[in-house]
Amino acid sequence: MLVKPCFKYVLGALSLLMLIVGISLVLSKAFPNFLQSKVKKDVVLRNGTEAFEVWVDPPAPIYMQFYFFNLTNPAEVLIGERPAVTEIGPYTYREYRPMEQVVFQENGTRVASVNPKTYIFQRDMSQGPESDLIRTVNIPALTLMERFKDNALAANLISAYMRATGIGLFTTHTVGELLWGYEDDLLKTAKKFDPELDDFFGLFYKMNASNDGEYMFFTGQQNYKDFARVDTWNGKSSLDWWTSDECNMINGTNGASFHPIISKNEVLYMFSSDLCRSLYAVYTNDVTVKEIPGYRFVPPFEVFANSTVNPANAGFCVPSGNCLGSGLLNVSVCKQGAPIIMSSPHFYQADEKFVQDVFGMRPNKDKHQTAIDINPLTGIVLQAAKRLQINVYVEKIPSFSETGNVRTVVFPVMYLNESVLIDDASAKKLQRVNVQKNVVENIPFLVIGLGIVLGVIFMLLMCRQKVPESTEAERQPLISS
Ligand SMILES: *[C@@H]1O[C@H](CO)[C@@H](O)[C@H](O)[C@H]1NC(C)=O
Ligand SMILES: *[C@@H]1O[C@H](CO)[C@@H](O)[C@H](O)[C@H]1NC(C)=O
Ligand SMILES: *[C@@H]1O[C@H](CO)[C@@H](O)[C@H](O)[C@H]1NC(C)=O
Ligand SMILES: *[C@@H]1O[C@H](CO)[C@@H](O)[C@H](O)[C@H]1NC(C)=O
Ligand SMILES: *[C@@H]1O[C@H](CO)[C@@H](O)[C@H](O)[C@H]1NC(C)=O
Ligand SMILES: *[C@@H]1O[C@H](CO)[C@@H](O)[C@H](O)[C@H]1NC(C)=O
Ligand SMILES: *[C@@H]1O[C@H](CO)[C@@H](O)[C@H](O)[C@H]1NC(C)=O
Repeated sequence: MLVKPCFKYVLGALSLLMLIVGISLVLSKAFPNFLQSKVKKDVVLRNGTEAFEVWVDPPAPIYMQFYFFNLTNPAEVLIGERPAVTEIGPYTYREYRPMEQVVFQENGTRVASVNPKTYIFQRDMSQGPESDLIRTVNIPALTLMERFKDNALAANLISAYMRATGIGLFTTHTVGELLWGYEDDLLKTAKKFDPELDDFFGLFYKMNASNDGEYMFFTGQQNYKDFARVDTWNGKSSLDWWTSDECNMINGTNGASFHPIISKNEVLYMFSSDLCRSLYAVYTNDVTVKEIPGYRFVPPFEVFANSTVNPANAGFCVPSGNCLGSGLLNVSVCKQGAPIIMSSPHFYQADEKFVQDVFGMRPNKDKHQTAIDINPLTGIVLQAAKRLQINVYVEKIPSFSETGNVRTVVFPVMYLNESVLIDDASAKKLQRVNVQKNVVENIPFLVIGLGIVLGVIFMLLMCRQKVPESTEAERQPLISS
């Protein structure tokens, strides 16, 4: 076969050109940059964008699961023994959390809204009906006792009333009552003296179909990193419960949305009104959810560590200087003075002391850590689980014989697991985006590959041309002899 020399040289030049173009595309990151700038433009809270629609009405189903701790040895606890509890649950609710009263402000750089949450009980996903009975600490009684412990007259009155009506430190109520509220006899009586008091008590009382206040979010129009970031909450840009400015900061988003183009070394801040504080999460590992790549972000140990490990946390010790130890947060100030202490479920990552103080605590990373899996290109949450335990601080109060000889203990009442998994329709869309991303990102390598193939062909042609010449030259003498 005869190949025109000029064709060979065109081939060689083309191969070289492709290698140069391909390598410079790889080095300049032109395609990834193009893709990222497109995502940055699209992921904005503006009427009509997909990001806005998902933000207003999240399509992925959210489930709220509650697990209660049933106290098995109340009499022993009153004489100073360690409480023993059995975990009971889940009691599962489907959670709906649309954004409402959405109003854009200042040319679309910020948006105001409220975020009411509605909970619908899912009997088929629960271990029992809402009428299941749970024995736990009598939180309204304990709150009243703590409040009036130094007021001898009030303490005597309350104590006498408790004795007469048989109200003790522990009480048994249904799951539904403990969560959504019940009329408390003691509170009803106390209300006669202090009309400010509410005679209902529940851990989620008045929290169904209601919102936690007005938020002002940045839309991400000016800077993609500000997408869905909280600017103010109830008109304030910081909290006033904690004792340092740093701890009072409202940082990041509300934890349900994140800005696009997330890198592994980023710190993701979020503000949680249930937890009464901001916190952050850092990258731990890669995950794949419904075939979509994601980064897992988890709040590191330091977020809830004691102030020796993380001096910045000293501001969460209330009253100032009164630190409870790693993994615990006294939220009394933001829960109407009830002695509520937040922690991770089963005191995961808290001081070992708290785990040992209650029989039945079995902290487990997979079951009890909070984790968020995010698609790094779009910032879309693929899967998330927020886990939080509500405890009460129980101690002997000398002015109330009802507290007996109880030992000081952080008593677990209930923990929640609020989780979400991306719905199939959104997952399909993201899978397509991911395929496009892979194709676009691989074009430069395709060009390089093609350049190499052409280069190899070019070299083969060059060699072929030489090989016949030499063999002919060798054969010549043989034939003539
Ligand atoms: C978005 O646009 C639609 C139709 O134009 C309008 O009905 C709706 O009120 C707008 N929403 C907001 C929050 O501005
Ligand atoms: C909104 O944009 C218009 C025109 O670009 C400008 O005149 C106006 O000052 C802006 N308003 C605010 C509150 O930024
Ligand atoms: C919450 O409110 C909705 C509607 O207002 C109601 O259908 C639902 O049963 C309520 N959930 C609970 C747990 O009370
Ligand atoms: C919790 O304990 C109480 C008292 O022992 C018992 O009556 C109740 O049935 C227990 N609850 C569940 C759901 O097992
Ligand atoms: C809020 O963010 C700042 C840094 O931007 C940080 O120093 C501070 O500790 C954060 N506060 C909380 C409560 O996370
Ligand atoms: C703080 O936590 C660390 C690690 O968990 C522990 O070693 C240390 O004793 C704690 N400090 C105080 C004052 O509790
Ligand atoms: C929790 O904080 C409240 C309000 O500052 C305070 O009265 C209470 O003593 C604290 N509880 C503990 C156990 O430190």
